[in-house]
Amino acid sequence: MPNITRHRNPWVVVGVCSTLVLLFWGSSIRTWVSGSRNDLENIVLEDPSLDALFRSTDELNQLYVDEPRAHEHSIKWSDADGIPETRVFAHFPGFTVLQNVYTLNGTLFLVTEHRKRLPSLKYMLSAYADVQGGQTLVDLPTHGHIRAIDHQTARQLFGLSARELRGSTWLSNDPLAYTDESFVLEFLRTHYMQEHRAHFNTSILPPTRILFPRISNTVQHTIPGLSSIPRLLFPSSGVGFKEDWEDYVSAHRPFVLETVVLIDRSAAARNPKLTSNPDQARAYFEIGSPMALFRLVNDGWWTFWRKRMADMVGIETTSWHGETTTSVRPVITYISRQERTTSRLDAEDHQQLVDQLKKLRTSHGYEVNIADPTNISFLERVRLALRTTVMVGPTGSDLVDAMWMNPTSLSLLLEFFPDNYISSKRIYVAKTVGVPYLAWRGDRVWGPKNR
Ligand SMILES: *[C@@H]1O[C@H](CO)[C@@H](O)[C@H](O)[C@H]1NC(C)=O
Ligand SMILES: *[C@@H]1O[C@H](CO)[C@@H](O)[C@H](O)[C@H]1NC(C)=O
Ligand SMILES: *[C@@H]1O[C@H](CO)[C@@H](O)[C@H](O)[C@H]1NC(C)=O
Repeated sequence: MPNITRHRNPWVVVGVCSTLVLLFWGSSIRTWVSGSRNDLENIVLEDPSLDALFRSTDELNQLYVDEPRAHEHSIKWSDADGIPETRVFAHFPGFTVLQNVYTLNGTLFLVTEHRKRLPSLKYMLSAYADVQGGQTLVDLPTHGHIRAIDHQTARQLFGLSARELRGSTWLSNDPLAYTDESFVLEFLRTHYMQEHRAHFNTSILPPTRILFPRISNTVQHTIPGLSSIPRLLFPSSGVGFKEDWEDYVSAHRPFVLETVVLIDRSAAARNPKLTSNPDQARAYFEIGSPMALFRLVNDGWWTFWRKRMADMVGIETTSWHGETTTSVRPVITYISRQERTTSRLDAEDHQQLVDQLKKLRTSHGYEVNIADPTNISFLERVRLALRTTVMVGPTGSDLVDAMWMNPTSLSLLLEFFPDNYISSKRIYVAKTVGVPYLAWRGDRVWGPKNR
């Protein structure tokens, strides 16, 4: 993200407001922006050849058949063969579901005699280093981060037992700079990968614990959803940060994690099928994000979680379907960043946008909200997003709130970009939950292929 991304483009402001009017008038602006995309029709999505890794549904079922051994906190074995093998239940670069993952001194160990059946470690995990100036360096994982070992080596390193972390653990390996509130979407979507391979079985949800080993307790409040979203969606799950993870590390004892959903955005970005060249803007928007490479799943999968969030925060999930009554009307939310120094609109443009939106309120009866996410609480943000029909704002992670919007064909997320920057992060949040999306940069507008 550039340091200061000020926009100066009056056309945008006028354009945005006419667009909103057109949109609600039923005119199909989405056909206008979608253009021809035949060249992208053949992009390979979630790689079917990986199915070979997940040998049979029987293995998946083993996840659910073990009776909990309520009074045991350790797994013991008397020889190397007794060490439970690591299994891969679903994998896609950056998104992995594993069973029996070991950790000792902060290293993840995968125990197997069949090294070749494991996905490449660089597609599971990354190494991150903080350097001066608040930058984060990304590198390939080393032996100190993740290692595949055979049973004999495991026996030598672990001894004859490991403490057990039962149930399912969500492990987000991303540092703060790469994390936003869409983590919940990524984890859940990773769970739903299994839908393709076996009958989906929800019993590994909710997660027993959600760990962010690279994010310190002292900074996690900068992304309030990291602890608030789990509290609301999975009230009985524990959330842990760097300091909590270090308790496991400094115990210098092996732990075995029963089921792990592991996400790592940099590992995801290594997917050779991704285009990282923003100059090819259309292709970038189609395949610029790993989320794009997932196969489509049943549209309803996210509805359940959205509804649960709405229930928790006390919002009725009725939405606007184009009626003209005064009681049900479209809700337009402008996520303003004017109080901040980065990624904000030019002051004049901002004022013009606000004035135009207010006019829409008088002339068309729309509900218009101008919200600065730094001024309102997490709950207020989520409540607003759940009710919002159209969300507009300059590029930034605040716009991931769109994941709570009701995904109808009349809803829209509209993201403004400065001339020198483009990002595909939000388009995939919107696309993953089914909210139509438009990116606005200069005099160009991009939208994704219709779902
Ligand atoms: C883990 O750390 C302890 C203490 O530093 C050390 O004695 C032990 O050899 C380490 N084990 C492994 C497998 O690295
Ligand atoms: C999950 O699978 C197990 C074993 O196959 C079954 O007993 C259980 O009812 C399933 N749970 C759900 C929610 O489908
Ligand atoms: C945010 O809060 C600041 C200080 O409390 C105030 O000056 C500003 O107008 C608020 N911004 C919005 C968009 O409400």
